[in-house]
Amino acid sequence: MTIRVWDYLTEYADERAEILDAVDRVFKSGVLILGESGRRFEAEFAAYCGAAHGVGVDNATNGLFLAMKALGVGEGDEVVTVANTAVPTVSAIVQAGAVPRFVDVHEATGLMNASQLAGAISERTRCVIPVHLYGQMADMAAVTAVCAGSGVPVIEDCSQSHGATQHGVRCGAVGDLGVFSFYPTKPLGAYGDGGLITTNDEILDAKLRSLRFYGMKGVYYAEEAGYNSRLDEVQAEILRVKLPRLGAYIRRRQQIAKRYDEILSATSIGVPEIVPGNDHVYYVYVVRHPERDRLLAELRQRDILLNVSYPWPIHTMRGFERFGGKDGDLPCTESLSTRIMSLPMFPALSEAQQDTVCRAIGEVLGEPVSL
Ligand SMILES: Cc1ncc(COP(=O)(O)O)c(C=O)c1O
Repeated sequence: MTIRVWDYLTEYADERAEILDAVDRVFKSGVLILGESGRRFEAEFAAYCGAAHGVGVDNATNGLFLAMKALGVGEGDEVVTVANTAVPTVSAIVQAGAVPRFVDVHEATGLMNASQLAGAISERTRCVIPVHLYGQMADMAAVTAVCAGSGVPVIEDCSQSHGATQHGVRCGAVGDLGVFSFYPTKPLGAYGDGGLITTNDEILDAKLRSLRFYGMKGVYYAEEAGYNSRLDEVQAEILRVKLPRLGAYIRRRQQIAKRYDEILSATSIGVPEIVPGNDHVYYVYVVRHPERDRLLAELRQRDILLNVSYPWPIHTMRGFERFGGKDGDLPCTESLSTRIMSLPMFPALSEAQQDTVCRAIGEVLGEPVSL
């Protein structure tokens, strides 16, 4: 049987009755957009993160865009982020009219190297977007120290790290704004698209509520030119069913990660490192190996379909070449992109499936695994 890097069907079989009840509740409520489910989910998820406000949006790409618009980012401004991230982090910057500037990542974790931030911030920098990649947080003390010193706001891209903490504080509660994706694969995933922006600032909260709803405050009157970026009621109600389970999903992901760490310990596979002070929620379990491409190909022949997050550093992609990035600019980002791959990771992954994956890796490498 095919083993995929992510699969939701077992989880759906377990939770089907409650998910369908949630859909039915919304359909029967008489309100399909901007109703009680969305309002409740916004409050519940913001409280979970430890943030004062939550604004539901249609996805995190638009969430990042709106967060930048709320901060006043526009044409010709610069936004500093990393190139080892999902494309949407950067497309949102471009959509906002800004120029993306990149700093490199740490070799050990793939996370933003904040020691390069001071050199990347110019008088045109309007915000910095650290990405909490793979399930753990970038070094927010270091990011905040540089940004506060330069008066530059911080938007946390929390799309992969729901529930992750640093020194006990959850992501989304540290920067000026935090942006979450509920794309189905995420640690908290919807049954479709969804996103949410957290903030402790009530002015930003009000601005975001206006921007996501055509710039309207009341009915049919726009105070400003806005957008349509609402979280719909069905996804919000499904997310309300899943949010109380997020802790259990995360514990299961952590168990799976620990088991991979142990089984692969005698092989030449490099397992993920956790930054001291971080609690890692393992959105993905990213390993390294110099023969990554051979491993991917041979595992595929055995019906084990892995993934690479990410195989192409964004600064060298054709879609962004006009910003002048070239090979050699970001050595750690570029080198990691040739060596990393993600092993199957989702709460319903069985031990038998995990064993099959690890045994196959051992056979392909000709190395012992600790099963
Ligand atoms: C780091 C990161 N930022 C932004 C996004 C965009 O999320 P969405 O698909 O909800 O627009 C993703 C999703 O893949 C992501 O992983």
